[in-house]
Amino acid sequence: MRVIGLMSGTSYDAIEAAAADIALEGDTLVMRPLGRVSTQYSEALRGAITAALPPAATSTEVVCALDTGIGQAFAEAAVLAQRELCDGRADLVVSHGQTMHHWVEDGVVRGTLQLGQPAWIAEATGLPVVSDLRSRDVAAGGQGAPLVGLTDTLLLCGLPGVPAALNLGGIANITVVAPDADPVAFDTGPANALLDAAVRHFTAGAAAYDESGRGAAAGTVSPVLLSRLLDEPYYRLPAPKSTGKELFHLPYLLAALEDVPTPDHHDVLATLTRLTAVTVAGACRAQGVTQLAVSGGGAHNPVMMRMIAEELPEVRLLSSDDLGVPSDAKEALAFAVLGFLTVHGLPGTLPSTTGARHASVLGSITPGRGPLRLPEPAAVAPRTLRVAGAGAPGDEPPAACATA
Ligand SMILES: Nc1ncnc2c1ncn2[C@@H]1O[C@H](COP(=O)(O)OP(=O)(O)O)[C@@H](O)[C@H]1O
Ligand SMILES: [Mg+2]
Repeated sequence: MRVIGLMSGTSYDAIEAAAADIALEGDTLVMRPLGRVSTQYSEALRGAITAALPPAATSTEVVCALDTGIGQAFAEAAVLAQRELCDGRADLVVSHGQTMHHWVEDGVVRGTLQLGQPAWIAEATGLPVVSDLRSRDVAAGGQGAPLVGLTDTLLLCGLPGVPAALNLGGIANITVVAPDADPVAFDTGPANALLDAAVRHFTAGAAAYDESGRGAAAGTVSPVLLSRLLDEPYYRLPAPKSTGKELFHLPYLLAALEDVPTPDHHDVLATLTRLTAVTVAGACRAQGVTQLAVSGGGAHNPVMMRMIAEELPEVRLLSSDDLGVPSDAKEALAFAVLGFLTVHGLPGTLPSTTGARHASVLGSITPGRGPLRLPEPAAVAPRTLRVAGAGAPGDEPPAACATA
């Protein structure tokens, strides 16, 4: 089945569309990536998203306009992927949409809202669309995030030691697959969310992020500011847990800077980059991680990567690409896998990774142009994921993994 995955993360820097041929062979999920295309929101839409994100108040009129605008932007990305990556022949689109609110109270997720009306995608591509993948896990008592837990687990299981996958988006999340233990996944805290907010603030919007970590490289970490930021109780909550820009936003950073005035902007960027490294490292140490496959935009920031390496001298750092999954396409491909599982009647979550009462078949399905024809429900759930055309370090397909 040829599947297009669409993703825009909390950074909303771009809509990533990745395509893959996915098949279930026995209990092995075989994925052949077909490439990735990336599109931008228009200035106006990006501005409207910024203006509506927490802690701002908004209106249902704005939410309606955003749902339409984001749906149309995702539809354009899907059409581009259909044409450029799939020779016009795809079977399914899976759309994450744009998270506008992840509602967490006392560590419990009460709701999560991704906008991007799937009807626009179905209308533009003629294909069925799986969307709203997080809500079902929330309804089953889970965090609804990180949802890459199952895909990561299928990819990592069987690798030597205690392998983990780390995605450095707006928020950082890890999945840890220790032998003889249930997989664990959670958001460690901000990866780029506070850093991007600081850069936008200091440059009055002229820059959106700390390109190649140059700003952080020019600064010095402030131990006092770092310690103030590390006081955040989120870091001490037990997993499973998830967070978002509802917590880690510009006013949050400005409050810390009021407590610890830090005149040099570069020092603030250095400190925020170190904060990401320290919180990621703390999570990895607590889980006994021995090798870490990194993906997401933060992997392009050499200062962030160096700081993570400094904090974790004993851990082998690799790129998601080394496991055959292109770093910038990883989340979009993970959602393509989740949609594939949904249309085959298979759950897309592991209770140990999201904290749900049980695993769930995820999402809502919007029919395409023709009648909705779903494949026969799969008899066997996958126990491992093989990326076609990629030799993983660790190599031969693992025998069995803890995905119960
Ligand atoms: N060349 C780069 N140098 C420094 N940071 C980068 C670079 N490229 C991307 N980033 C960071 O990665 C973020 C986007 O990462 P991404 O994985 O797309 O996150 P999300 O899933 O939240 O959209 C940007 O906002 C920026 O902070
Ligand atoms: Mg992004």
